[in-house]
Amino acid sequence: MKKEISRRKFMKTTALAGSAAAVMPKNLFSYRKKTKVKLGFIGTGLRGQWMLWLATKYPELEISAICDIDDGMIESALKIIKDSGRPEPRIYKQHEEDFLNMVNNENLDGVYIATPWEWHHPMAIAAMEAGIHVGTEVPAALTVRECWDLVNVSESTRKFCMIMENVCYRRDVMAVLNMVRQDLFGELLHCQGGYQHDLRHVKFNDGINPYGGGVEFGKNGFSEARWRTQHSIDRNGDLYPTHGIGPVSPMLDINRGNRMIHLTSTATQSRGLHKYIVDKGGPNHPNATVDFKCGDIVTTVIKCHNGQTIVLSHDTNNPRPYSLNFRVQGTKGIWQKDANSIYIEGETKDEHRWEDEDRLMKEFDHPLWKRFENKAQGSGHGGMDFFILRAFIESLKGAKPVIDVYDAVSMSVISPLSEKSIRLGSASVKIPDFTRGKWKKNQPIFGLNDIA
Ligand SMILES: NC(=O)c1ccc[n+]([C@@H]2O[C@H](COP(=O)([O-])OP(=O)(O)OC[C@H]3O[C@@H](n4cnc5c(N)ncnc54)[C@H](O)[C@@H]3O)[C@@H](O)[C@H]2O)c1
Repeated sequence: MKKEISRRKFMKTTALAGSAAAVMPKNLFSYRKKTKVKLGFIGTGLRGQWMLWLATKYPELEISAICDIDDGMIESALKIIKDSGRPEPRIYKQHEEDFLNMVNNENLDGVYIATPWEWHHPMAIAAMEAGIHVGTEVPAALTVRECWDLVNVSESTRKFCMIMENVCYRRDVMAVLNMVRQDLFGELLHCQGGYQHDLRHVKFNDGINPYGGGVEFGKNGFSEARWRTQHSIDRNGDLYPTHGIGPVSPMLDINRGNRMIHLTSTATQSRGLHKYIVDKGGPNHPNATVDFKCGDIVTTVIKCHNGQTIVLSHDTNNPRPYSLNFRVQGTKGIWQKDANSIYIEGETKDEHRWEDEDRLMKEFDHPLWKRFENKAQGSGHGGMDFFILRAFIESLKGAKPVIDVYDAVSMSVISPLSEKSIRLGSASVKIPDFTRGKWKKNQPIFGLNDIA
C-alpha cells in the first residue's frame, strides 16, 4: 500500500509540474495571435444574448453583425451591445435564410450559432464555406449524414467547427479530469453522464415568458418552447447527449487514443409531457391530444475501443432535481457526483466508505480554474460559459481548437444513433470513426495548456 501511495505522489508531483509548465504564459504566444477578431452572432435568443453579453467583455472582439428572425430578440441583443458602449452591428433579420447574406457579405473571422438545433448544421456549413470559423451551440448536427458534412466541409475549407460544450469546463469535471490524468482512478473502466433536468416549464410556457405559466408550445410558445418541444413529438432517443458525453470524452481520450465503437439505447414509455399538459391546462386543452414519441427516460450504453463503457441518461419530462449524473470509475477509485462522493483506494481514509469530494476537488482544482477563477465568476453556469467562450475566442485568434469538429460530431451523433437503436428494438449500432483512423495518433489536447 505504502509503495502504491508513494508512486501516486510521485506521479502527482510530476504531473503537476507538467501541468504547471503547460500553463506558463509563454504558451499563450506559441501561436500567431490575431489582435482583433470579427465575430457574428446567428441566433440572439436567450442563449445567444447571454453569450453576447459575455462577448462584450472582450476588447479584442469586434461584434460586426447579428442575425435573428425575431424582432424582439434582435432588440434585446441591440440593447446589450448599446449598454456595453459598442457600436451597433449590422443586422440580418429579413427571413430564415438571411444568415446566408450575413456570412457571405460580412468579412467575419467567426460566427457563434445559438439557433434551434435543426439550424446548426446548415448555418455551420454556410459559414465554413464562406471562409468563417464556427462555434456552434449543442448539438452540432441531428443526423449521421449531417455529422459527416461538418467533418468534410471543415476539412476541405480548413475552417474549424467547435461545439460550445460548456460542461467540459465545469470546475468539478475539470478537477476530476486532472485526477484521471494523474492516475488517481487507475485505468478507467466506466463513465456515466447525462441530461437529467426537469424541462417541462421550458418545453411549455405562456408564449410570453420563457419558463412555465402555461402549456403552449410551437408557434404559441416562446423561446425554446417554440421549437424544442417538437423534437419530443417527432423523435424517440437521447435528444441532448452532449452535456453528458462531452465532459467524459477527454477523460477517456475519445478521438485521441480511444474512440466510441458501438451503442445501444432503450427508452421508457412517454408520460411526463402529456401529464403536465393535463395537470396544468386541463384534459380539454387542445395540446392534451398531442402524442409525444420520446420516451421519458432514455438510457444509452456505449462501448469504447479501449474497453470502457459509458452510460448516458436523458431524463427531462418528469419532476426531478437537476443532475448530469456523472460517475467516473477506474481500477483504483470512483467519483459519483450525485452523492458528492469519491473513493480512492489508499487515499480515502475509511475503506469501503465514501469520502466527501471536497478535499480532493480543492487539491486537484484544474490550473485553468485557478488562473481564471475571478474572471469566471458571474459568467454563467457556474463559470463554465467563461471558459468555453474564451476557448472559442483564442481559437479565432489562432490557437488550435481544443474541441474540434471531430469532437463536435462524436458528441452529437449519439442522438441519431440512439434513435436508430430504439427503432431497432435496442439493437447495437456502430458509431462511425469520423477521424478516419486519426484517433490512433491524435494526442490529448483539452485542458493541457493555458488556452483550454
Ligand atoms: N450550452 C448551454 O448551456 C446551453 C444553454 C441554453 C441553450 N443552449 C442551446 O443554445 C441554442 C439556442 O437556445 P436558446 O435557449 O437561445 O433558444 P431560443 O429559442 O431562446 O433562441 C433561438 C433563437 O434562434 C432564432 N432563430 C430561429 N431560426 C432562425 C433562423 N433561421 N435564422 C436566425 N435566427 C433564427 C429564434 O428567433 C430565437 O431567437 C440551442 O441549441 C440550445 O440547446 C445551450
